Amino acid sequence: MVNDWGLPGAKGAVANLPHRGKVRREGWRPPPYPYDGLSGLMELAQHHDGGAVDLSVGTPCDPPSKAVLEAFSIKALLATSGGYPASIGSLGFRRSAAGWIHRRFGVELPADAVAACVGTKELVAGLPAWLALRSQDPNRTVVLYPEISYPTYAMGAELAGMQAVPVPCDELGRLDLSQVSDDDAARAMLLWVNSPSNPTGALSDLGSAARWGRERGVVVASDECYVELTWTGRRRSILQEGLEGLLAVHSLSKRSNMAGLRVGFYAGDPELVGYLSEVRKHAGLMVPGPVQLAAIVALDDDEHVELQRQIYKERLELFSQALSCHGLNAPMPDGGFYIWASCSPEPAESDISNGGPLPSWELARWLAEVAGCVVAPGDLYGETASFHVRVAMVQPIERLELAVNRMRLAGSHCSTRQ
Ligand SMILES: Cc1ncc(COP(=O)(O)O)c(C=O)c1O
Repeated sequence: MVNDWGLPGAKGAVANLPHRGKVRREGWRPPPYPYDGLSGLMELAQHHDGGAVDLSVGTPCDPPSKAVLEAFSIKALLATSGGYPASIGSLGFRRSAAGWIHRRFGVELPADAVAACVGTKELVAGLPAWLALRSQDPNRTVVLYPEISYPTYAMGAELAGMQAVPVPCDELGRLDLSQVSDDDAARAMLLWVNSPSNPTGALSDLGSAARWGRERGVVVASDECYVELTWTGRRRSILQEGLEGLLAVHSLSKRSNMAGLRVGFYAGDPELVGYLSEVRKHAGLMVPGPVQLAAIVALDDDEHVELQRQIYKERLELFSQALSCHGLNAPMPDGGFYIWASCSPEPAESDISNGGPLPSWELARWLAEVAGCVVAPGDLYGETASFHVRVAMVQPIERLELAVNRMRLAGSHCSTRQ
């Protein structure tokens, strides 16, 4: 459905997203990719002098560290590109990944508990299908995932022909496993947790997720790709709860600005890691050798991460304050590099039941018109997120200041059908 400014965002448009809660049907076609629907917002934002400030996709704008760039050299290419890399990752890469886990979380991983992946999105999207292949229980057809979350958890279930069942989150955005029905729990094969959360920044209780999964024989996969950007309290990994039945998923994309190089790793239960790495070997999933060499340098160094943390903190503080000054509820997140902002006060549910545009799209339009920035409407992350927008701090501070100045000059306060 297209609304009056040519944006897909009217109530009902979420039906185009991965079929949260539904099993794949015959003749399946992929739904439109979530961010492909933002071109209308981009057009609005581009009218500003200085162009659009794109804060929609969570793709880092900063370069990898100098040491990483040096490691990713012609020499590395010549040294590693003649033969196929091991799908599981080189010993050096796996040692560095395990070394980082030990430094950060105090967990010693055995050598067979960690393996490489080609960025983590492919692992998130593929995991349900690979686990389903070996399942002995035909009733385990459910993938549980946070109701407000990165869309690939639901998409992975859909690609596997499984049922994606959202788990409610509490008012702070934390996973509330007490709300999973007995039936869904009995049919669950996999539970995704994501802490810090994309998009909300919430920190979930990983200990209770691990216990919940173990008590029910459900694999718990913990996507921890924003863990270095934990702002409240200590960085946490599910691996601190032991390895049995658990998988932690880590990306170098956000930690080390290596999204373009495609590298991450998964670690946890050696039996699970062993199974997955064998399947992935058959599928030819391999991180290129030079990329692994660069990743080793990144994983061995924490200094560039500290610098990047300061950069994100400064951006988050600037924008959180600016949005709050213009009438939005836009607190600093507990983790991650997104601001999860909503209109304040939120419109009543009855206000959006008339088929008009969702508040999240109205808010996104307001930001495009007034500040010239493109943000992601909340309903891309779940049907219950239609009051929010996700604002990614992935532009240099000067671009963010440009957007803040535009808001200041416009002097207008956000109000969406209050
Ligand atoms: C929660 C979450 N998990 C996984 C990914 C995938 O990251 P990558 O494939 O770059 O490792 C992203 C990327 O935005 C993400 O936000």
